[in-house]
Amino acid sequence: MKKALITGVTGQDGSYLSEFLLSKGYEVHGVIRRSSVDYRERIAHLEGKPNFHLHYADMTDSMSLVKLVGNVMPDEIYNLAAQSHVQVSFDAPEFTADVDATGVLRLLEAVRTNHLEKTCRIYQASTSELYGKVEEVPQNENTPFHPYSPYAVAKLYGYWIVKEYREAYDMFCCSGILFNHESERRGETFVTRKITLGAARIAQGKQECLYLGNLDSLRDWGYAKDYVECMWLILQHDTPEDFVIATGVQHTVREFATLAFRYAGIELEWQGEGIDEKGINKANGKTVVAVSEDFYRPTDVVNLWGDPSKAKAELGWNPQSTSFEELVHIMVKHDMQKVASDHVASVMRTNLAEYLEKGLVK
Ligand code: NAP
Ligand code: GDD
Repeated sequence: MKKALITGVTGQDGSYLSEFLLSKGYEVHGVIRRSSVDYRERIAHLEGKPNFHLHYADMTDSMSLVKLVGNVMPDEIYNLAAQSHVQVSFDAPEFTADVDATGVLRLLEAVRTNHLEKTCRIYQASTSELYGKVEEVPQNENTPFHPYSPYAVAKLYGYWIVKEYREAYDMFCCSGILFNHESERRGETFVTRKITLGAARIAQGKQECLYLGNLDSLRDWGYAKDYVECMWLILQHDTPEDFVIATGVQHTVREFATLAFRYAGIELEWQGEGIDEKGINKANGKTVVAVSEDFYRPTDVVNLWGDPSKAKAELGWNPQSTSFEELVHIMVKHDMQKVASDHVASVMRTNLAEYLEKGLVK
């Protein structure tokens, strides 16, 4: 039985990758951080399974990583842990660098300290943000990098240190340069999930208006469930290499919103430009989407479009197994149900509080 160690196991990708590796017969070890609230929602269904184990460690704590790698002795490591929000990286640049740049170095050194450099394969979660202020479209493995946020600069260090350790110590370590991938488990402050949840709430009368930033931004959005398979394929390849993982199809934030609202039962009409642009509900003339400068970034990456030809040819991966339309539909369907069930739960909580106060139940 192969052993995999996943940092960032509580995140969107960590949860799907855990499910995927367990289905392949792996013993899966995940890294969690101490927190005062429970943040394990995405992996709650895996806890208690015989081949699924959790360990406390932190990417900012070398000793914890050295001990962890020595205790688990993994065959494969998937380094998914990161401060992964680009806008937040402008507010917390030093922390972002500590986790997303130096953290990668700490993990590589933990592998060397435990003398696993010849046996343990390492996947680094790299990103299309490296292309940043893009120098060509679409972007492939040979496109020059131009990082355009503290997050991207930190991830660029991660990319280069992985390449350096591969060349200097002959380690099997690779970067997957993944373009945006989304799902019903996506964090709620990333634009796609913010839109699908907002559309669901507005459709069910729980919210009046959704405020967004740059509607013209272009992204190559795929489904996270499809992308975790690629992480595994990259480590099963004969030679350690870096791969671009993307769908090869590009859409604007506005197009994502139009489709998400349509699936939630609202046809949008766009009026105005820039900060004054609005998404109007055609059925009643109400403004349901507006632009707020709060969501503008000091520098924004606006034209990501990946070329997955290498992954298709060398890994046999199908970049379009889930279409853009299917992805938006999956997310909206999930969030329509979530908003409805949150409402039922909240009504039940209110009723229960009232009954307790009146002494009707004990
Ligand atoms: P995510 O949902 O934000 O998950 C990030 C994970 O990192 C969480 O488990 C988080 O733990 C953990 N983490 C953060 N700081 C840590 C620290 N100091 N020590 C240990 N763990 C820490 O991100 P994701 O979307 O799954 O993305 C996974 C990886 O792929 C990230 O490295 C991201 O930068 C990269 N990536 C993502 C995309 C995308 O579109 N999703 C595209 C390209 C690259 P807590 O739960 O405790 O916060
Ligand atoms: N978050 C957010 N919120 N973004 C908005 C909003 C908003 O209200 N309105 C417009 N946008 C625009 C952003 O300016 C950006 O151009 C685009 O939507 C996508 O933003 P995010 O969904 O936050 O994702 P990201 O592309 O910045 O970063 C994600 O993808 C990267 C891969 O390209 C993250 O998952 C990164 O960790 C990942 O590396």
